[in-house]
Amino acid sequence: MRFEGYSCRGCGASFGPREATYRCPRCHGNLDVVPSNARATRESIASNRDPSLWRYAPLLPVAVPDAAAGPLRAVGGTPLYRAPRLAARLGLRSLWLKDEGRMPTASLKDRASAVVVQSALERGKTPILTASTGNAGVALAAMAPCAGLEAVILVPATAPPAKLTQLRIFGSTLILVRGSYDDAFELSEAAARELGWYCRNTAQNPFTAEGKKTAAFEIAEQLGWRAPDRVFVSVGDGNILVGVEKGFRELVELGFIDRMPKIMGVQAEGSSPIARAFQAGKGEIEPCTTTTLADSIAAGRPADGVRALGAVRRTGGAFVIVTDERILEAIVTLGREASVFAEPAAAAAYAGLAQEAAAGRIGADEEVVVLVTGNGLKDVNAAMRACPSDAPTIDPDLAALRAVLSQREEKP
Ligand SMILES: Cc1ncc(COP(=O)(O)O)c(C=O)c1O
Repeated sequence: MRFEGYSCRGCGASFGPREATYRCPRCHGNLDVVPSNARATRESIASNRDPSLWRYAPLLPVAVPDAAAGPLRAVGGTPLYRAPRLAARLGLRSLWLKDEGRMPTASLKDRASAVVVQSALERGKTPILTASTGNAGVALAAMAPCAGLEAVILVPATAPPAKLTQLRIFGSTLILVRGSYDDAFELSEAAARELGWYCRNTAQNPFTAEGKKTAAFEIAEQLGWRAPDRVFVSVGDGNILVGVEKGFRELVELGFIDRMPKIMGVQAEGSSPIARAFQAGKGEIEPCTTTTLADSIAAGRPADGVRALGAVRRTGGAFVIVTDERILEAIVTLGREASVFAEPAAAAAYAGLAQEAAAGRIGADEEVVVLVTGNGLKDVNAAMRACPSDAPTIDPDLAALRAVLSQREEKP
């Protein structure tokens, strides 16, 4: 086995690799994967020419997939861009955008699905079942066939058309659920139990956070084995945030970096049960019904809320709540000022940073990373709402072109 076993933060119990698969057998809390003693150094990783997340194989609980596994073998390695215009706008020393929209299926969820698919392969399990708001399902639908496995995806029937189209194109068994993501999650959990299928569900499967932690590994390595002061992460279930915090923590424990960044969770106003618990100083999360255009972070019964609260508190970070209006503005700002096209859930993280900076809660000397978790082409309707077209239509005629260009020059 490439990992020691599991530990539960809820009740403190530990389990061997074969003694648990999903949640804690004692208290039903989410399990952390306990890594094996890694025989890796910063230098050995840096000398690996593989740019994908598999460069961190010594720090992962699964083996590297077969070289012929196509996109499954190529997940990760997304760019970390400097965003000087945005930094100036917010009065920050340094701002970076980690563009996860550049993944094989255009969201960070490829990281989790890649590691879970490899785990299913090693366990000899197929099909793999998951509930999803869209992106996790798309990622699984693309990655499972790369390993010769079947995927069954349950998503809300209201998921954006681009995500449903990706699911159809990748050829998974797609089932639309008349209900919310939370309803689909509950159904998939019961179905996996009854059918004995391998369940990828976010957080329920401890390997999802193992994939997501590689985003932190990449940020630290791209900064020259250094942690930024803060990382802003959009939050639905809370599992990306949990994975990112775990990734930085493992690097501190290995001595690869010397401190933790403050982890900042951002939730949409219409789906903010974790942020509300944080602000009320509570450890329990009150479920809610969700109403936000940022569909990927609409989770009223967050599957990893308790661990996300703990992760943010441990790092001295905070949770921020942003309105849908601010999310739409953030889509446009990211596009205009940094040439990054984000889906609403991804833009939420930047909206949270902008709000915190405007409130004077970020120091001018801080270095900040915003995780842009999904590509804007995932939800073109939301983007069009954010930026209605004002493009003039003309005849193919030079005089007409001159006329509209002169109006443009007259604009203040
Ligand atoms: C683009 C995007 N951003 C953020 C999230 C939130 O991740 P989590 O549910 O792990 O908090 C998701 C989840 O689907 C997502 O697809």
